[in-house]
Amino acid sequence: MANSKTVLIKIKRQDNPTSKPYWEEFELPYRPGMNVTSSLMDIAANPVTKDGKTTAPVTYDSNCLEEVCGSCAMLINGRARMACSALIDKLEQPVKLEPFSKFPVVRDLSVDRSVLFENLKKVKAWVPTDGTYDLGAGPRQSAEQQEMNYPLSRCISCCCCMEACPQFNDKTGFVGAATISQVRLFNNHPTGSALKVDRLKALMGDGGIQECGYAQNCVEVCPKDIPLTKSIADVGGQVMWQAVKDLFRT
Ligand code: SF4
Ligand code: SF4
Ligand code: FES
Repeated sequence: MANSKTVLIKIKRQDNPTSKPYWEEFELPYRPGMNVTSSLMDIAANPVTKDGKTTAPVTYDSNCLEEVCGSCAMLINGRARMACSALIDKLEQPVKLEPFSKFPVVRDLSVDRSVLFENLKKVKAWVPTDGTYDLGAGPRQSAEQQEMNYPLSRCISCCCCMEACPQFNDKTGFVGAATISQVRLFNNHPTGSALKVDRLKALMGDGGIQECGYAQNCVEVCPKDIPLTKSIADVGGQVMWQAVKDLFRT
């Protein structure tokens, strides 16, 4: 472990999407209140490894620096979490940083998470309004609806829940907990519910909700404490109902 005046950071690097990964170690002067993103900024300002070799600055994503934009997700000491809220004081050293393992690496710690956005498109995770003329005020939501919907609306599309999920892999094509939770949010919205049946149908079959094994890893890593397992159970019930209705209709 580094002495109290320095911080040791080991980073799994990859120069491009197809090249072989390799590790580099950095030793930084300690400052109180440092987090993983500020450490990566320090490395960018002086990209020299612990052995004194000048190297390319490490590529990583970040934006808001306050756990709102969802861009800085990575594996920190093996756990999927946000770099901007990961305080160095609370991490075991050397701090090991790796890109997400289930998403294509763009470079170093930056990965392509567009699969989540494709999945959200599949389930029409939006409120349908055409926006060409003033529709007036929408229907009001009850206090109970607001109470249920607000936590669901906090999703920052970080993909931590998908990285941690044993079922989210190429074999299953599982959409993952974030998408299912957004289905719950928009199905519970007075205007959004117009697309409820389309959403439920999109979650039937391969890659749909039945792929979930209820391992609950997702809810443990979600940085916004979204009740994901509740969402999965709730939407699972809705999908089942829809399947029964479809059966009697045919
Ligand atoms: S409950 Fe388990 S299997 Fe289902 S989405 Fe969460 S982590 Fe994946
Ligand atoms: S549900 Fe939670 S872990 Fe999953 S993408 Fe949204 S904020 Fe991230
Ligand atoms: S930089 Fe926006 S969530 Fe970390």
